[in-house]
Amino acid sequence: MKFFGLALLVAACAGPKSPQDRLTVNDKQIDKIIAQMTLEEKVEMLHSKTNMSSAGVPRLGIADMNYADGPFGIREEGVPNGFQPAGWTLDSATYFPTGSALAATWSKEMAYLYGTGMGKEARLRGKDVILGPAVNIQRLPVGGRTYEYLSEDPALSALLSLYYTKGVQDQGTAVCIKHFAVNNQETNRGSVDAQVDERTLREIYLKPFERAVREGGAMSVMPAYNKVNGNYCSENEHLLNEILRGEWGFKGFTVSDWGGTHSTMGAMLHGLNVQMTGSNYLGQPVIDSIATGALTESLVDEKVRQILRVRYAIEVIPADVANTQMTSQPESQRIALKVAEKSIVLLKNQGGVLPLSKDIKKIAVIGQNAVLKTQSGGVGAGVKALYEITPLQGIQKRAGNSIEVVYAPGYKNFPGRRWGPAPTTVDPLVATAIDEPADPSLLAEAVAAARDADVVIFFGGTNKSIETEGSDRRDIKLPVGQETVVQALYEANPNLVTVLISGGPCDLQVLDQYSPAIVQGWWNGTEGGTALAEVLFGDIAPSGKLPFTFPVKLEDSPAFALGNFPNADPTGGDLFTERYRQDMAGQQGGRRAQRPSPESKYTEGSLVGYRWFDTKNVPVMYAFGHGLSYVDFAYGPMTVSAKKKAVKVTFDLTNNGSMPADEVVQLYVRRIGSKVEWPAKELKAFDRISLGAGETKTVTLEIPVDDLRYWNVDTNSWTLEHGQLELLLGSASDDIRQKAETKI
Ligand code: BGC
Repeated sequence: MKFFGLALLVAACAGPKSPQDRLTVNDKQIDKIIAQMTLEEKVEMLHSKTNMSSAGVPRLGIADMNYADGPFGIREEGVPNGFQPAGWTLDSATYFPTGSALAATWSKEMAYLYGTGMGKEARLRGKDVILGPAVNIQRLPVGGRTYEYLSEDPALSALLSLYYTKGVQDQGTAVCIKHFAVNNQETNRGSVDAQVDERTLREIYLKPFERAVREGGAMSVMPAYNKVNGNYCSENEHLLNEILRGEWGFKGFTVSDWGGTHSTMGAMLHGLNVQMTGSNYLGQPVIDSIATGALTESLVDEKVRQILRVRYAIEVIPADVANTQMTSQPESQRIALKVAEKSIVLLKNQGGVLPLSKDIKKIAVIGQNAVLKTQSGGVGAGVKALYEITPLQGIQKRAGNSIEVVYAPGYKNFPGRRWGPAPTTVDPLVATAIDEPADPSLLAEAVAAARDADVVIFFGGTNKSIETEGSDRRDIKLPVGQETVVQALYEANPNLVTVLISGGPCDLQVLDQYSPAIVQGWWNGTEGGTALAEVLFGDIAPSGKLPFTFPVKLEDSPAFALGNFPNADPTGGDLFTERYRQDMAGQQGGRRAQRPSPESKYTEGSLVGYRWFDTKNVPVMYAFGHGLSYVDFAYGPMTVSAKKKAVKVTFDLTNNGSMPADEVVQLYVRRIGSKVEWPAKELKAFDRISLGAGETKTVTLEIPVDDLRYWNVDTNSWTLEHGQLELLLGSASDDIRQKAETKI
């Protein structure tokens, strides 16, 4: 049976009933193929072939499955058996804005476009499956992967996760949505047991996966490293078999996170298809277990069938067609720019410092975050970008010849853990500790530049060594004496704008006092500097909204306030690298060391992010959904219609400014007199509306009544509680413009 024949057959079949059902249209043919396969050939498909592929069956014309990291750009080609670069020349990709930046657009259109860019570039590289999107909830401000993930809110995360998935898969590439599930910390990520109650699991942590699978037809899923309620995700009956396949109707295959498979029987019986990487669990031991009768060959057939469904849904790119042109394409670069333009969040703008005045003749750009590239680092999510416009380059280009731009580093960069031998020379721009105080000579140079300029743009924040996979941040304080620097700059020249370059929130208690204007600039991809300059100079109005809360201080945030994180167990370190090596060693007969599994208790329940701050009346620095513009938007009176299937809210939105601008309108719900416990309010609908200067549009926001249900732990089902609701319409979670009551 030839592969292409079968691929065509998909198109010829009657339309599928659900997005997942499109995977089963070839099942009869697939079963015939499985009947021709030997047990050994089948088992070869259940584990890695190389670091980024799993095997097909050449004898039967079944191609290998090729994977690529995700989620912000197709990762450079590695050597077959590791992550080291292979040294290719055509594998430079488009670096898209990172997860929290995409989420700050609050735009399903942007998520879809982003997905199409990723999906197309994957095809150019002959990749079948993108290891992404990464859609876990941002539970901890310090989370090492907060920047990869989308939002602290499940509705926002879920909509973007759905559209990213559709975008990728509409290009004929499969997503591998990750990390399923409750992967919210890097501390002890290889063994931590996330203990979360069923209602919170369903309403908060699973939502982004559920929509991508059910509505987006996600073809593959990556179980996370951690345990959930006692069992590793890669062998978690409840997550993989009961919920994912049983309830959500998932028809594709699961791929363990790299080094995240833990046993043969657990993985085989409880929902894993492919061990990545190594074969010590899903290789020869499977064959041996069938010989002893512990496992059946029909279980292997089922797993192979699930893999083949995806194999046949994704067209194979022949080796002589793949990798013949550069991965990064202009079309994707334009998408990266569009997303970046819509992601930038204006947190504060006192005295209208922004947009920069047309009279400015000299700008002092201070801070290494203006020049450091953000494409690489952070481990798996690093991208070898074809190019990256840094903030300084963006500003210089936009300033042209008429405005002078001077730059001073201001502070040292903290590059984090170093691999290999310690450097023998001292680099005056590199710090050896994250809390190293400001360097007097760099400070003096920066202050002199600030004094001499019309405006100061200070670039603060973190970097991709501080926020990275494999470890969580110790705290959210600004590193390397940045607070001292911004204070000194402000004293030298109060016409100052701070731009934060980070993926997650920082503690702004000091910085806020010395920054009349603050912009959250993210790690914003290949065109990040261009987009930032457009916003600073007022070519476009800022329109991003925060996808997470900036707490006043870390200790205010739920998991910290309740002592749930960090927990006391000092297991320490990142087990991934160790496990990965042990699994590879296991193939040569080595044994894997056992590790204790510290518990991470989620006693805050659904009170994640703003749900906590609002319910407990804890003040925040910048609220979820916050983001200013250069224009004012007027919200007209809202009318409400509550029908059986949906609650609708309609109102007029006017741009009262003199330039085009987008507003993200947000609709929250508060329960009145409910017998069930709820957060103070929850986001239930939102939209991004583009308006020309002076333009008015009628906007309708719709909440499907199904989205108002709660997970009833007594009946184990989604339940609608009839009663009163308050609808809160606004521009941010702390900027509610109108309220109305309705009944469901
Ligand atoms: C990460 C995954 C990534 C995989 C392969 C793991 O360390 O957790 O997100 O896809 O490596 O690079």
